[in-house]
Amino acid sequence: MEKLNVLLLGSGGREHAIAWKIAQSEKLGKLFIAPGNGGTRLIGQNLNIRETDFPAVKAAIIEHDVQLLIVGPEAPLVKGIREYIESDSDTENVLIIGPGKQGAKLEGSKAFSKEFMEKHQIPTARYGRFNINQIAAAKSFLNSMEPPYVLKADGLAGGKGVLILDDLDKAKSAIDEMLKGGKFGVAGDVIVIEEFLKGIELSVFVLTDGKTYLHLPSAKDYKRIGEGDTGLNTGGMGSISPVPFADETFLTKVNDRIIKPTIDGLKKDGIDYLGFIFVGLMNVNGDPFVIEYNCRMGDPETESIMPRIKSDFLEALIKCGERNLTEVELEVYPDSVASIMLVSGGYPETYEKGKRIMGLESVQQSLIFQAGTHWVENELITNGGRVMTVTSYGKTLEEALNVSYSEVQKIGFEGMTYRKDIGFDLKEAN
Ligand code: AMP
Ligand code: GLY
Repeated sequence: MEKLNVLLLGSGGREHAIAWKIAQSEKLGKLFIAPGNGGTRLIGQNLNIRETDFPAVKAAIIEHDVQLLIVGPEAPLVKGIREYIESDSDTENVLIIGPGKQGAKLEGSKAFSKEFMEKHQIPTARYGRFNINQIAAAKSFLNSMEPPYVLKADGLAGGKGVLILDDLDKAKSAIDEMLKGGKFGVAGDVIVIEEFLKGIELSVFVLTDGKTYLHLPSAKDYKRIGEGDTGLNTGGMGSISPVPFADETFLTKVNDRIIKPTIDGLKKDGIDYLGFIFVGLMNVNGDPFVIEYNCRMGDPETESIMPRIKSDFLEALIKCGERNLTEVELEVYPDSVASIMLVSGGYPETYEKGKRIMGLESVQQSLIFQAGTHWVENELITNGGRVMTVTSYGKTLEEALNVSYSEVQKIGFEGMTYRKDIGFDLKEAN
């Protein structure tokens, strides 16, 4: 059987989970991760390259004879890594999982994604878009809305570009701060103001080769630092899959009203999209509405999704890269999976790195997907805010959570923090 060398870009728990899954494939030759983390180093070879250093990525592809490039995070996609790799005769035949620049705008520009949804009649919150010359219009648009007011910077703002404010005057000042004051930098040169959707959030993921698409398991992440979904937003404090309320009826609505029109819309607009589409949804009384698109997998959703996939995922990615995704069927385990994120004390504000991580060797019933970790002289130490997930299977969501929470007790590093209530809003529904 022909084996492929793979380069995976990224350094999070998402990348560790993808690496873990594809390493189980007989089709894998060598696996390289750039830059990777303390966990990916145990599976493949980490390369000390930033994801957005395109010349270095290209050089690594050539040096290591890489045939498949999987792009984990959004930044290289929005910056055009697909075009960069495809436009060079030395690398033009490399299969790339991740859309080109135009497709990545679904995530890179909120105004673009709202226009796209409006044009293709995909359910989303009512909105307006405004630039610096339209401040008065933005404020009068706010007057026509009900609180809470949702203000979004158009561009990438590291997940921090969304403000949800109850007070009209504060929302008006925020418009000034974003458009005139440069809050969120150039990402906030254009803003989107939208209606607040009340409901429960979840994420759905598809893999598409531009012609057809495959649904991946549904998942839900927990973004706030505090129990009961309180406090500051984080990159994600845990995740579960599947989402109990995302039953067949609901997922059929998601497919018919959102996924299919999205794929068809991309085709109609001449956007050749190959890669993952992550749709952040709000379930409003049983009807799905799009909150946002992302052009990549979610983190920490991926940590709960990869363990649920039974099929050879590398094979699915290869077929996708070759635009033969119709040949693939994805088998999924019926079990639930729950991931608890262990974070550094202080996160998502300032925190210390360099703490020694202890106890991993005692963890037997859970998978560990590392994020902010690295090795120094044979010791695993913390290297970021989100440090690792403890990920477990269970016959039910509750069982998966119980296993993760009991295994968490074996792990320790100075300042270690985690949310004790992941899945709290879903357990009864299960
Ligand atoms: P985004 O960066 O667009 O995912 O927004 C960040 C978070 O803000 C989302 O995960 C939601 O929790 C919340 N949010 C964004 N847009 C809306 C909306 N229109 N209604 C309610 N909540 C929203
Ligand atoms: N978990 C949310 C994200 O990856 O953006």
